Amino acid sequence: MTTLAIIGGTGLTQLSDLKIIKRERLDTPYGAPSADFITGELNGKSVVFLARHGNPHTIAPHKINYRANIWGLKQLGITEIVAVAAVGGITEAMKPAHIAIPDQLIDYSHGRKHTFFDDENYPVTHIDFTYPYNRRLRELLITAAANANIAITPESTYGCTQGPRLETPAEIKRMAQDGCDLVGMTAMPEAALAKELDIEYAAISVVANWAAGVTEGEITMAEIEHNLHSGMANTALLLKAFIAL
Ligand code: HPA
Repeated sequence: MTTLAIIGGTGLTQLSDLKIIKRERLDTPYGAPSADFITGELNGKSVVFLARHGNPHTIAPHKINYRANIWGLKQLGITEIVAVAAVGGITEAMKPAHIAIPDQLIDYSHGRKHTFFDDENYPVTHIDFTYPYNRRLRELLITAAANANIAITPESTYGCTQGPRLETPAEIKRMAQDGCDLVGMTAMPEAALAKELDIEYAAISVVANWAAGVTEGEITMAEIEHNLHSGMANTALLLKAFIAL
């Protein structure tokens, strides 16, 4: 049975080396997931792939049905998720095209359906969130990066903003003061929902741009696309090395 899922974000709407075995459109009590769940083989290992923003990329971060996505993966028997996401770099090491494996996060998003425990079917439950990213999966990703000779930052704090707009320099300054190294729009509630359903969750954050105000000038989509191109090529290598462990 397939136990590993990869959630692809901006720049990764499909896994090019995935040998597709089946596509499933699942319905869930929370509505429709972002896309078909694609079961396939990546380097001989069975994985399920889900495009977080749909395929083609049409769903904005605040409109993603995170509950349907995570519930659907649980229904398929998934016990481990590696989530790939594009981010902006705040601290010095987080240069464009760099990869980080975050270990902490701060949630600045709002108004998203962020828990399964909010109706009469599910009594009030306060999950522990000391380790928002699963330590075992993170260690494996760090080992895989070393094996594949990919320079990564093994610890970093991800700040999740609401989007879809990018941030102001003042917001980024505040996030830096809070301890954020990276800024993205999708880690929450995804990470917490996975934890609620007892699915191990870790992330590969791919830096698409310097966050607002870190360098002079505005952030362009052309720059984001260019940096993601090389960052995602390394991400594909990292995923293969991870699967080979
Ligand atoms: N901010 C938030 N999310 C992002 C960014 C950013 O600068 N770049 C890619 N995703």
